[in-house]
Amino acid sequence: MDVTSDHPLFAALRPEAREAPESGIVEVFNYGRGRPGLIPMWAGEGDLPTPDFIYEAAVRSLRDGETFYTAQRGIPELRAALARYHERTYGRSFVEERFFVTGGGMQAIQIAARMVAGPGDEVLVPTPAWPNITAAIAINGAAPVEVPLSFGNDGWTLDLDRLFAAATGRTKGIFINSPSNPTGWTATADELRAILAFARTRGLFIIADEVYHRFYYAGARAPSFHDVAEPEDRILYVNTFSKNWAMTGWRIGWLSTSPALGQTIENLVQYSTSGVATFMQRAATVALDEGDPFLNLQVDRARTGRDIVCAGLARSGRARVSEPAGAFYLFFAVDGEDDTRALALRLVDEANIGLAPGTAFGTAGNGFMRLCFASRPERIEEATGRLVAWLRKG
Ligand SMILES: Cc1ncc(COP(=O)(O)O)c(C=O)c1O
Repeated sequence: MDVTSDHPLFAALRPEAREAPESGIVEVFNYGRGRPGLIPMWAGEGDLPTPDFIYEAAVRSLRDGETFYTAQRGIPELRAALARYHERTYGRSFVEERFFVTGGGMQAIQIAARMVAGPGDEVLVPTPAWPNITAAIAINGAAPVEVPLSFGNDGWTLDLDRLFAAATGRTKGIFINSPSNPTGWTATADELRAILAFARTRGLFIIADEVYHRFYYAGARAPSFHDVAEPEDRILYVNTFSKNWAMTGWRIGWLSTSPALGQTIENLVQYSTSGVATFMQRAATVALDEGDPFLNLQVDRARTGRDIVCAGLARSGRARVSEPAGAFYLFFAVDGEDDTRALALRLVDEANIGLAPGTAFGTAGNGFMRLCFASRPERIEEATGRLVAWLRKG
């Protein structure tokens, strides 16, 4: 039974729990779920299942009886593989003590938010942003302060002066998701440097959500705080196996930061999930060590999907589109359609495609729609065709 908002049990809850928002993406998903022939592009995941070489490592681990309580910070083999992956990716050295295995990127965000801000505190969040970010901050009693990006001829941009001006005496952190879900906005190294300089001056933490670091279309990876920061800077890096290695359903990710915070992170893991199952960590280790060809394939498919959908929408004459530099979403506006929640529901009924309404990503997302293009090209072609035909009719 659902507990509704006028139920006395609901009224008795802590306000932070009571006010946790329902995801606006899930609303459309529930509306369209199960429609025959519908092409779903609302979720943040590709269409490929986890490859055999990854899941077989999990099966082997289970067969070997690795079914006991696990290391709270992560098994040593996985932490060492994370250090190797970072060395390869960022071209500098990393000690394995910097890495902490979490229940997905989501738990990494939750732990980072808990470490940084509580009741009375504020965290700056450029928006439109993935709704789980602001919700994770608010559920701790802290206030997410939205700083809107602008959408213009150069695509999505963040005005750094506006970001810095939003900081008050209560600000404890800045959440930077680059490349961004949903806009694809990707900070330049200079922008990251400026944000870091500001955070250092004010003593703020940066939560650096770089889960789309490899989904970047102008190079092998996006610019990262790892390029500009020192190991002891106040930065909590959030990352995940979900996107790179098609493991969204596994729920495994990682947090990285100074080893000085290791005991605190271990405690926060202990008192929430008590760690990620060892068999999943075995699979994640293999993903890092042997998963580059699969990851490259995924990025190539996303690039193709992006090109198909951008070209299609440009031809429609009704969409305001800017090619995203990173991540795997197109966040676009449709002329004459301001109520994008209603538009998302109509597209389910009238075009048989599932998109997420921009309203789900904060007020700065009003008037926009999010479409995930990490899928096989034929499917993206078909979905783009349906969308463009619908736009031309309207
Ligand atoms: C910006 C961002 N951060 C973190 C995550 C968390 O991913 P997961 O919890 O699946 O690892 C997502 C997933 O969509 C995301 O878009």
